[in-house]
Amino acid sequence: MQPDLELAYLVVEVPDPAALDTFFRDVVGLVPGEPGDGDSRTWRNDDKAHRILVEAGGRNDATTIGLEVTSDAAFDGVVERLTAAGHDVEHGDAADLARRRVSRLVRTATPWGVTLEIVSGLAEATPPFSSASVPGGFLTEGVGFGHVVFATTAFDESVRFAIDVLGFGRSDWLSMPIGDGIELEVRFLHCNPRHHTLALARAPFDLPQQLHHLMVEVNDRDDVGAAFDRAWATDLPIPNGLGRHDNDGMFSFYVQSPAGFQVEVGYGGVEVEQPWTNDRAYDRISAWGHQPLR
Ligand SMILES: [Fe+2]
Repeated sequence: MQPDLELAYLVVEVPDPAALDTFFRDVVGLVPGEPGDGDSRTWRNDDKAHRILVEAGGRNDATTIGLEVTSDAAFDGVVERLTAAGHDVEHGDAADLARRRVSRLVRTATPWGVTLEIVSGLAEATPPFSSASVPGGFLTEGVGFGHVVFATTAFDESVRFAIDVLGFGRSDWLSMPIGDGIELEVRFLHCNPRHHTLALARAPFDLPQQLHHLMVEVNDRDDVGAAFDRAWATDLPIPNGLGRHDNDGMFSFYVQSPAGFQVEVGYGGVEVEQPWTNDRAYDRISAWGHQPLR
């Protein structure tokens, strides 16, 4: 099943939202959206009002993902499936709708510990999107703002929740030994043509952050290279230099944000076509590259 959900936004909570300003603006090439309450910030990678919301708080991790449903009927369907599966569903009030810039919102908990908001009608920003750093812009039309990857000790339950309740389809999976008898196990899940909007990794123990990375995809391959140069010019860790993933074919690199979670900037990811017939195991992350650089 492909439920036509799109990643609407990601909310991260960090002690000092301003500490991510330079990173998101000057390294990744996002543009600021309208500021939220207090110290909170919002960031855009397209014409939508906001895509990454940075709130002040002690958690230093993602707190919420927003998934947008494109029709009222589909919205009601997701709510029905959540309720039928025994999940508490809280309907957002007027303040929630205003804060998230959406017309409908329900909230529930995910097994991997972040809050899930099912939304519709994410507002457009007033000024059209334009980033001097990313002249080709970001690929978001019909596929949401990017993808998010979480590591969780509640792995099996989380995968079941995403597939059986939310209706994600499995694109493929990764299984490879990474030493000390630990097997890296990742499920890549789609809900629109983007190869994966959500990926879940089995965490062997509770990690300090569940958000491993978020990915934004650019329309022009050269914009990956330019972003890499900007990252290289900082002293931020680059856990993976330029490379190409084996499964989704993404040409990308990973830079570690000042908050610890990573951002992948990529180009040319595979599109999932229906019926999807390439759901299979992979035993390597990358066809080439993605070497740890610093
Ligand atoms: Fe990724």
